[in-house]
Amino acid sequence: MLQQVNGQSSGSDAHGRESLREDLQAFLGGEAPLHQLDDLTKVNPVTLETVLRCLQARYTADTFYTRAGCTLVALNPFKPIPQLYSPEVMQEYHTAPQPQKLKPHIFTVGEQTYRNVKSLIEPVNQSIVVSGESGAGKTWTSRCLMKFYAVVAASPTSWESHKIAERIEQRILNSNPVMEAFGNACTLRNNNSSRFGKFIQLQLNRAQQMTGAAVQTYLLEKTRVACQASSERNFHIFYQICKGASADERLQWHLAEGAAFSWLPNPERTLEEDCFEVTREAMLHLGIDAPTQNNIFQALAGLLHLGNTRFADSGNEAQPCPLMDDAKCSVRTAASLLRLPEDPLLETLRIRTIRAGRRQQVFRKPCSRAECDTRRDCLAKLVYARPAGRVRV
Ligand SMILES: Nc1ncnc2c1ncn2[C@@H]1O[C@H](COP(=O)(O)OP(=O)(O)OP(=O)(O)O)[C@@H](O)[C@H]1O
Ligand SMILES: [Mg+2]
Repeated sequence: MLQQVNGQSSGSDAHGRESLREDLQAFLGGEAPLHQLDDLTKVNPVTLETVLRCLQARYTADTFYTRAGCTLVALNPFKPIPQLYSPEVMQEYHTAPQPQKLKPHIFTVGEQTYRNVKSLIEPVNQSIVVSGESGAGKTWTSRCLMKFYAVVAASPTSWESHKIAERIEQRILNSNPVMEAFGNACTLRNNNSSRFGKFIQLQLNRAQQMTGAAVQTYLLEKTRVACQASSERNFHIFYQICKGASADERLQWHLAEGAAFSWLPNPERTLEEDCFEVTREAMLHLGIDAPTQNNIFQALAGLLHLGNTRFADSGNEAQPCPLMDDAKCSVRTAASLLRLPEDPLLETLRIRTIRAGRRQQVFRKPCSRAECDTRRDCLAKLVYARPAGRVRV
């Protein structure tokens, strides 16, 4: 720890700093190339600079995984590297006598966790925490792990077990496009940013074969439905229905080509995630049939129209805020798509009901314009959270 004496460093600290600088130089300019250090605990002295320089050197040498004791540090390569995740590599880590002796890889973590379950007489649940900032590669890493377990946790001798694992893998993989359509959005940091947390459970039987899976989602960023930062987008699904609906669906959902929606910013940007067909297909595989899908998409179109419902100031506290001229049609369309009667919907948005007194008397108070906007946004968040929160494997 550095000690300050009257604003000056004491002599021993100055000496300490000098020797640290020398150690740093010796380490960074040493003979061992930095990219060969596959464990950050071997970095000496451990400073922010040495750790970052080591990771940078490995990144430059196309080495994206590094150990840090029992933790694995994964760098995002920002380019596809299929040979790093091939079935052969999976088998190599799965069959290695000591996978920790191979190059650091996400499959080492996967395999060690798998062996932990296997080696215990009474199996104990194992957890892998994938964390990092937005765009770091958490979703990518989780997908790699799921693919790995789908391969290694299937018995090679039993055709039936292999089929079960394959079916589970397919369901998990199908859940991804659906969850990502409803829960991911383009942000400044990541075109496919997950706006929710995910708890994935893989279930193994006593023979360590995969028998089931469950995906639980939580903390969906519902506010995004009604409020998006500039240069960001709403959830992918809204763009998918606007860009991918057929002519008939457009008519049915009132989504005219080129129609402007205030909750659909930056629609001109097309991303690879804007693929409606993939979402529909995956929903079908998850058991969400075409009529149910239609109901969901119709409600989403209703939300877009609800977002165009704007109120003017009433000028009189006793009167509800009037709708802006161009919003009258929007609220009607929103009500019909959401299958709500128009008048009660408008009343809910504009009038607050208060119960007070011993007799719980009911008072109806017109809301201010800002309150009307908030109530509209809250309704949208509630409606959106229902289908989005129900996606299950
Ligand atoms: N190992 C990898 N190989 C190739 N590309 C990768 C890898 N990891 C991440 N990427 C790329 O980086 C992008 C962002 O990664 P990802 O979506 O997994 O980030 P995230 O940590 O889940 O971010 P967020 O918290 O915003 O959801 C991916 O779409 C992919 O293009
Ligand atoms: Mg993610």
